[in-house]
Amino acid sequence: MTTPAHVAIIMDGNGRWAKARGLPRLAGHRAGVEALRKTVRAAPELGISYLTVYAFSSENWSRPKSEVSDLMGLLKLFIRRDLAELHQNGVRVRVIGDKEGLQPDIRGLLQEAESLTAGNEALTLVIAFNYGGRDEIVRTARKLADAVARGDMASDAITAESFAASLDTKGIPDPELVIRTSGELRLSNFLLWQAAYSELVFLPCYWPDFSREHLADALRDFAGRERRFGGLAARDVAL
Ligand code: IPE
Ligand code: IPE
Ligand code: MG
Repeated sequence: MTTPAHVAIIMDGNGRWAKARGLPRLAGHRAGVEALRKTVRAAPELGISYLTVYAFSSENWSRPKSEVSDLMGLLKLFIRRDLAELHQNGVRVRVIGDKEGLQPDIRGLLQEAESLTAGNEALTLVIAFNYGGRDEIVRTARKLADAVARGDMASDAITAESFAASLDTKGIPDPELVIRTSGELRLSNFLLWQAAYSELVFLPCYWPDFSREHLADALRDFAGRERRFGGLAARDVAL
C-alpha cells in the first residue's frame, strides 16, 4: 500500500460536537485536543512522516473574543503539558502561520517547542496556527519582492521552486493527502499552494470523534486513488 509521507488535517467540527451534547463550545475544543494527541501517536505507527494540523486560521479571529481567548489558552496548555512527551517520542514540532500576529507569550512557547525538538526524526508535527494560505502567499511574495528591490535576487530567479522554498513550509514536502472532518466540503484557506495536487478526503465525523481507524481508512482510500498530475495513467499512454 502506498502511504503518504505527509498528511494534513483540517480539524473541524468541535463546536457541533459540543452542541450535539448540550455542552459549551470550549468542551468541544478540549475534546479536540484529545483527538489531536491520539492522532499524533497513531501517525508514525501508520507510516506517516509529516502531519500538519490546522488549529487556528487567520479568519478565526472573527469569532467571539471569549472563544478566541479559549483557543489561545488551549494552545498554551497543549504546549506546556505535551511538549516533554512529544520530545520524548521523537516528534519535531514546526509552526506555520503569521507568528507576528500572536501574543509574545505564545510566540515564545512556540519558539521553545520548535528549538527543543528541532533534531527529532520520528514525526514532524506541523501546527498551522494563525495560518491562512493567502496570507502565507502574500507574506512570501513581499519577502521575495524585498529581496529583488535590495538587489539580492533577480526577478527571474522567482520560480515555483524558489517560491516554495520561501513559504512557511520550506523544507516540508507537499501533503499527498488532505483530510477534513465535520462534513464541510471546502479548504477554508488551508495550504492553498501546497495542496495543488493533494488527494482530498472529507469525513462526516466531527473532529473530537476522529480516531486511528478513521486515519487508517483515509490512508486506504488514498492508496486506491490514481494520481495523474495532469499527465496520463500509464495504461493510457500509447505504446
Ligand atoms: C474546529 O472546530 C476548530 C477551530 C476552527 C479552531 P470549529 O470550532 O470550527 O467547530 P464547528 O465547525 O463550529 O463545529
Ligand atoms: C477551518 O475551520 C479552520 C480550522 C479548522 C482551524 P473553520 O470552521 O474556521 O472553517 P469554515 O468557517 O467552516 O470555513
Ligand atoms: Mg468549523
